Amino acid sequence: MRSLKEADLKGKKVLIRVDFNVPMDKNDEIIDDTKMRAALPTIDYILANGASLILLSHLGRPKGKPEAKYSLHKVAERLAEIIGPRVCMANDCLGPDTRKKVEELKAGEVLVLENVRFHSGEEKNDPEFSRQLASLGDLFVNDAFGSAHRAHSSTTGIAEYLPSYAGFLMEKEVEMLEKVLEHPESPRMAILGGAKVSDKLGLIENLLEKMDIILIGGGMANTFLKALGKGIGKSIFENELLEQARQLVEKAAQKNVRLMLPEDVAVAEEISADAAAINVSINEVPDNMMILDIGPITIAKFAAAIEKARTIIWNGPLGVYEYPSFARGTEEITKAIARSSAVSVIGGGDSAVVVYNLGLEKQITHISTGGGATLEFLEGIKLPGVNACEQSASSSVLPGSSIHQEVSL
Ligand code: 3PG
Repeated sequence: MRSLKEADLKGKKVLIRVDFNVPMDKNDEIIDDTKMRAALPTIDYILANGASLILLSHLGRPKGKPEAKYSLHKVAERLAEIIGPRVCMANDCLGPDTRKKVEELKAGEVLVLENVRFHSGEEKNDPEFSRQLASLGDLFVNDAFGSAHRAHSSTTGIAEYLPSYAGFLMEKEVEMLEKVLEHPESPRMAILGGAKVSDKLGLIENLLEKMDIILIGGGMANTFLKALGKGIGKSIFENELLEQARQLVEKAAQKNVRLMLPEDVAVAEEISADAAAINVSINEVPDNMMILDIGPITIAKFAAAIEKARTIIWNGPLGVYEYPSFARGTEEITKAIARSSAVSVIGGGDSAVVVYNLGLEKQITHISTGGGATLEFLEGIKLPGVNACEQSASSSVLPGSSIHQEVSL
């Protein structure tokens, strides 16, 4: 990737793609601005080096046309609170108003463009839309690791038309994920949770090649347990994946990867805030109950394995952590990872939320801002948004070239 440090920024208008797709509540207020704060080192650096910034992001999944609830206005307001009053907002990401605001933009100022997904060209990676976006700036910086698995105009297409660089967040994410995946210190451990095996098949396959131990909890463990002949009561599982789960267990044995599944579990008759959890052995799950967390024996065994690991990758909660009765497994495993001196990388929104809620973020080596992007990276897929930062300037239309005059907005 070409680092932003290589770019000559003075006097330039820098188009930056960030992932400010932050969670909003039902009153359209931002619940968590972690993703925004993660891009601040890049934003600060660009502004401190004499450039102005034109900020591109998506928010939510509007279907290629404007929808008020997906406006980036609240995001622009929050950015102004964080970095000061030099932030303004355009009502679109193209058009005469945007063009005028871009022209008036001075060094040190930030213009937030409206949601790129308000245009259908964005998700189609339409070359004409990419070209029009590119015409607004002199160079492109991609700092949106969380969107790097999307081959859209503002994440990849735009890089065809401008010299392109990786922002510091993008660099850090790729560096950390590569470190745990490609150059991990042994023992290497992955902890996998979340509801479905189907979401993680590619991930498990890739991790079987790279890890020494894989701990499995959460809803996805049920499919493995059922495949191994355990009674799982009325727990969720994926019937069509039982054979594949059996094969993965066999493959792990062949590759000498220790696959650890729950030996005891917390069960209840239903998922609800006041359902009481009962701990039972995995051989004694009652028919009328469902598995909603790992049990204390499993927690102790997982924690002991975590203590010995030198590299830890964690993705997905180990129980229905949203309810206190079933949060213990996820919380105890988070604490065990925090106590460990291993290089620890946490990917995926839910796992990160638990770490922040427990105030343990400083004890984790790296918490990824990507959900889907992190998962795909760990599956071994080369992400299009990362590739876009590797394109050389020679393949791009350089600043001052015809594109700036040619495009009418
Ligand atoms: C995310 O939240 O994972 C990213 O912002 C990507 O969003 P998307 O899944 O809507 O493309």
